[in-house]
Amino acid sequence: MDDNRQEQQSHDGPAGMNPDGVIETNWNESYDNFDQMGLREELLRGIYAYGFEKPSAIQQRAIVPCLKMRDVIAQAQSGTGKTATFSIAILQLIQTEIQQCQALILAPTRELASQIQKVVISLGDFLKAQCHACIGGTNVRDDMRRLEQGCHIVVGTPGRVHDMISRQVLRTEEIKLFVLDEADEMLSRGFKDQIQDVFRKLPEDVQVILLSATMPADVLEVSQYFMRNPVKILVKKEELTLEGIRQFYVDVKYEDWKIGTLCDLYDTLSITQAVIFCNTRRKVDQLTEQMTEKTFTVSAMHGDMEQRDRDLIMKQFRSGSSRVLITTDLLARGIDVQQVSLVINYDLPTLRENYIHRIGRGGRFGRKGVAINFVTEQDKRVLADIEKHYNTTIEEMPANLADMI
Ligand SMILES: Nc1ncnc2c1ncn2[C@@H]1O[C@H](COP(=O)(O)OP(=O)(O)OP(=O)(O)O)[C@@H](O)[C@H]1O
Ligand SMILES: [Mg+2]
Repeated sequence: MDDNRQEQQSHDGPAGMNPDGVIETNWNESYDNFDQMGLREELLRGIYAYGFEKPSAIQQRAIVPCLKMRDVIAQAQSGTGKTATFSIAILQLIQTEIQQCQALILAPTRELASQIQKVVISLGDFLKAQCHACIGGTNVRDDMRRLEQGCHIVVGTPGRVHDMISRQVLRTEEIKLFVLDEADEMLSRGFKDQIQDVFRKLPEDVQVILLSATMPADVLEVSQYFMRNPVKILVKKEELTLEGIRQFYVDVKYEDWKIGTLCDLYDTLSITQAVIFCNTRRKVDQLTEQMTEKTFTVSAMHGDMEQRDRDLIMKQFRSGSSRVLITTDLLARGIDVQQVSLVINYDLPTLRENYIHRIGRGGRFGRKGVAINFVTEQDKRVLADIEKHYNTTIEEMPANLADMI
């Protein structure tokens, strides 16, 4: 333990970025420079033009085994660059002269799939790599037309992707890489069957890459059945919370008292940008209504809304024109808005893993973040369990909160 602490301190970058940090792995190579990874000139240009100078810890370790066409399980703390890890590998391995899908990425939400698409397109700019987002809530005919033209990389949500494969407009013969972002979520009850259906339609020797900030044991267990001797880069659960994200709780006692606490915090929330998580869609609507009634400006998003409205809300939040967003676990995973420095768990998450994902919406890539948990009497045990499981401390919220943001 003490050794770890020392290592972390001797590293001058942000927590979670230390390539010598505490990880369990069967792969010990690491490259602290993008130039040494043997990447194509155009791809390197894309990486630097995107603003990356040095690879993060997970990029230092996981890009190269992916390039060697190994199956890879890559776990790394939230906001530490897993997207570019698989995107760079894909862009290096595809052949742009072949006008067919060679890499398929699946993600649990439409918003995340679109975000990934934008990263792939930017990094692959000088390669002229095409990447299509194949997601629900969009026009099926347009999707079919686009896929029929052929597209090097497809990133999508399981339902629509499966539909497009079944209709044989998304051809799978040339797919060499299959990536599951948020892999533990993708292999959980809700998605597992759909993922299996897609997987069965892929070439037998497809390379598989799994990524997530959380990799519970049961997921590692099931991965054995479809991965071949994978390279594993894993983080102990006790090392998953980032030092840059301060965690607090407010004792609200009763459910009904949460709203008052939130109103008191509003000025602090809107200093930068904040995400407020509730456990149900109904609660998101209710809270939004209550806040609006009290003349606080908030926006809201959940899975019952029209895709058009979801897109608009996301756009406003990404641009900073809306600053406080109330949502469900729909936005708990993967969403990258660098200005978010505050996350509020208005309700504590029902799934322990989602605590890590939710608080990780703030404090991206070494930035500072604050997470505040509203706890009722009954919640106290749940909070204690989270603290213990992730070996972290969640202190009572101090009065000078604004100074920390
Ligand atoms: N090498 C790098 N240099 C600078 N910034 C980087 C680098 N790699 C990634 N980033 C930035 O870090 C942020 C977080 O990256 P990303 O979304 O890939 O994290 P993640 O590991 O997928 O997190 P999560 O677990 O929340 O999905 C992004 O804004 C990305 O542009
Ligand atoms: Mg991610």
